[in-house]
Amino acid sequence: MFMNFRRIRKCQCVQLVTTCLVLSVVMVCWEQLDHHVVSHMKSYSYRYLVNSYDFINTSFGISRLEAESINNFPYLLNHPNKCNSKKLLLLLFIKSSPENLDRRQAIRATWGNETYTERELGATVRVVFALGVHPSAERRDHLQKELLREDHIYSDLVQQDFLDTFHNLTMKLLLQFRWSHAYCSQARFLMSADDDIFVHMPNLVSYLQGQARQGVRDLWVGHVHRGSPPVRRNTSKYHVPYELYQWPSYPDYTAGAGYVVSRDVADKIYQATLCLKASLYIDDVFMGICANSMGVYPQEHVYFSGEGKAPYHPCIYNEMMTSHGHETDVRNMWKAVTDPQIQNISSGLVGKLYCTAVKVMLLCRPYHFNTYSCKAAFS
Ligand SMILES: *[C@@H]1O[C@H](CO)[C@@H](O)[C@H](O)[C@H]1NC(C)=O
Ligand SMILES: *[C@@H]1O[C@H](CO)[C@@H](O)[C@H](O)[C@H]1NC(C)=O
Ligand SMILES: *[C@@H]1O[C@H](CO)[C@@H](O)[C@H](O)[C@H]1NC(C)=O
Ligand SMILES: *[C@@H]1O[C@H](CO)[C@@H](O)[C@H](O)[C@H]1NC(C)=O
Ligand SMILES: *[C@@H]1O[C@H](CO)[C@@H](O)[C@H](O)[C@H]1NC(C)=O
Repeated sequence: MFMNFRRIRKCQCVQLVTTCLVLSVVMVCWEQLDHHVVSHMKSYSYRYLVNSYDFINTSFGISRLEAESINNFPYLLNHPNKCNSKKLLLLLFIKSSPENLDRRQAIRATWGNETYTERELGATVRVVFALGVHPSAERRDHLQKELLREDHIYSDLVQQDFLDTFHNLTMKLLLQFRWSHAYCSQARFLMSADDDIFVHMPNLVSYLQGQARQGVRDLWVGHVHRGSPPVRRNTSKYHVPYELYQWPSYPDYTAGAGYVVSRDVADKIYQATLCLKASLYIDDVFMGICANSMGVYPQEHVYFSGEGKAPYHPCIYNEMMTSHGHETDVRNMWKAVTDPQIQNISSGLVGKLYCTAVKVMLLCRPYHFNTYSCKAAFS
């Protein structure tokens, strides 16, 4: 009897302590959650009710002279004759960093292989890596020598004299549009990609060839962020203080990991960079600002990825455009997706039904965030 009583008391005590613990965790989290929810509500209301970004020209506008002084880093490595072909489908800019040799090698051997694209896909593509200089003064000289050697072999590095840091990514964006305007204005499309993504080149080329046949203009396609609020937590990598951007939401933009613009849009963005202050260091957001001031709006494509990898499955490979987070498995991915057997898996009625079922299972699970939305399963 006595034992029983003690056990009950102990039980209640444990319950009480647990309840208190859970409550305090909830209260601590609530403040953050609350903040998160409120900022999203504010940004969506702004995006969908007000939807006016007229402040961009007045708040970000600067004189041409001032813009040129920001956007005028000298080239350390350059290839002005890279785009020597008249009929160029795509100029592919890959944002890399001096130390990422392994990633560049993997890309050259797979989705960035110009020869493969020419021979197997019948499309002329030029691939260029955009770089700054290494931020650490000790490593810079050594790495610079290595880069020279690498560039001597491959002739595909374009480097400007700015520090290659996260907060200088916008400088890389300016480099891309400035370079393509100066040396590659005949390319039908321009793509900007990170060096840790995978691009399904056969799918991309056939998509772009289709768009070109239709004479597409005003194309800016990728994984679209609509009505994103600026991150105000100062511990976040994407933190943007009020002084830099005081409005509740960003103009729509595509994830910087990989997006494509048509030539006319590339021209417009270049013009915008000549009269807007490149103070926002999140490069894809700055791209959205430039585009918005020129009246260009992004288009969603369900198989361009945002954060995260595409599920590894042949039914997905057949339709994917880009997938993010492939630092090490690019070569295996390439082998898998270009296997001729793969293309037959979704052929015929049975194949189509099978692949739809697989995609629904992979992409439409509740509480499971995927790089492609559930919509992609039915496209
Ligand atoms: C690029 O593709 C061509 C043609 O398919 C191939 O011969 C060549 O070895 C590839 N290059 C690299 C670096 O793998
Ligand atoms: C960007 O590069 C410039 C030029 O090298 C440098 O002065 C500046 O400190 C860099 N900014 C950041 C945030 O790294
Ligand atoms: C973030 O903000 C808090 C309070 O506003 C401040 O105490 C802290 O030093 C800031 N941290 C950084 C990394 O700026
Ligand atoms: C912003 O500036 C650009 C370039 O000067 C101009 O084409 C555009 O019409 C302006 N937008 C607004 C909303 O005033
Ligand atoms: C794929 O299917 C086509 C016809 O649908 C067939 O001719 C071809 O041999 C198949 N390829 C493979 C690798 O099974």
